[in-house]
Amino acid sequence: MNRPTEPTYYGDYLDLNTLLSTQNPKSAKYGEESHDETLFIIVHQVYELWFKQILHEMHSIAAYLKAPKLEDDHLATIVARLDRIKKIQSLLLDQLTVMESMTPMDFLEFRDLLVPASGFQSVQFREVEVLMGLRTHNRKKVDREYFLGRLNQQDRERILKIEEEKSLLELIQDWLERMPFAKKGNFDFWKEYESAVKQMLDSDEAIINNNLATLSDIQKEAQLENLQATKRTFDSLLDEKLHNEQIEKGKRKLSQKGTLNALFIMLYRNEPMLHLPYLFLNSLIDIDENFTTWRYRHALMAHRLLGTKIGTGGSSGHHYLKMAAENNRVYEDLFNLSTFILPKNLLPSLPEEVKKNLHFYFESKKN
Ligand code: HEM
Repeated sequence: MNRPTEPTYYGDYLDLNTLLSTQNPKSAKYGEESHDETLFIIVHQVYELWFKQILHEMHSIAAYLKAPKLEDDHLATIVARLDRIKKIQSLLLDQLTVMESMTPMDFLEFRDLLVPASGFQSVQFREVEVLMGLRTHNRKKVDREYFLGRLNQQDRERILKIEEEKSLLELIQDWLERMPFAKKGNFDFWKEYESAVKQMLDSDEAIINNNLATLSDIQKEAQLENLQATKRTFDSLLDEKLHNEQIEKGKRKLSQKGTLNALFIMLYRNEPMLHLPYLFLNSLIDIDENFTTWRYRHALMAHRLLGTKIGTGGSSGHHYLKMAAENNRVYEDLFNLSTFILPKNLLPSLPEEVKKNLHFYFESKKN
């Protein structure tokens, strides 16, 4: 198609007349305009624009992951786009300080005009949560009511429709389950891993037993019980039935196969073929951590501006927001992989045939 020849004008291209005419302080309609209401509107609007960009990146990542085969260059693009989301998130965090330049008294000048609108109705924020993998049934009961209950019918239907599609978490699980390296021919990595774990835990037990003389009965019992608990955690990783019980209890989300392959990537991240997958998983951890940090900072901001008042959306205010920060983490399973990392000296060495598949070889020409 031919490119247009007419010149582009900055303001038209960005549709600035529309964009800049959408800041309409409500206080102006009821008397003197509250000076800080414009800041309140602009900060929220900028957030919504960034949410739009984050969704744009996330949807493109989901599209790559939906393909039956994830090409290497697509994986590199996914990592680059996740990195972009991380950079946007640092802006989102910083913007809270701009909002905090408004004092509680300035806020009270127009706060009553907002009721019952609230961040609960940010449909794009909900979309980010759902797309990442936070499902309605994973939420606490009180949260579930706020999650959909405050949206109008059109927005609620939009979120329910997205819930029907595969989330990034599910797509990442599919991709992880396809990873072939941990089992090859006669090689079963997980048998080797299990015996390395046994060696590590036996050595921990020996240390406790050697120190018995220096420990009181209570300390001895507590240390041995902690060791048993660690053994049970490893069992629940390696035994599929126990792992599925954890999923049923809502303590894990990723399938056992997906979790094991994610762990394999973490353990052998320096192998050339696994480095990009490692960056991928690590970025997901960063993004989850950044949203959680934002939630905590937003809760503190709400405390600072509202004290213990309830929110305009009807929640208990900063108490509710702190609870939501703690309970709405999405990629906790990836954080928990650190539990199963072994020290380097115990890491099973991979057979040559597996190693060869994980390396890039540039063989020199023989004369
Ligand atoms: C004066 C500044 C702000 C205060 C005092 C405040 C306070 C609150 C409170 C109390 C809630 C709980 C719902 C309710 O009962 O209303 C809430 C929810 C929320 N707010 Fe804010 N907020 C502020 C600014 C912002 C900004 C700038 C954003 C950016 C988009 C935002 C996004 C959200 C979101 C997404 C929720 C839902 C959180 C969840 O359900 O986990 N808020 N806010």
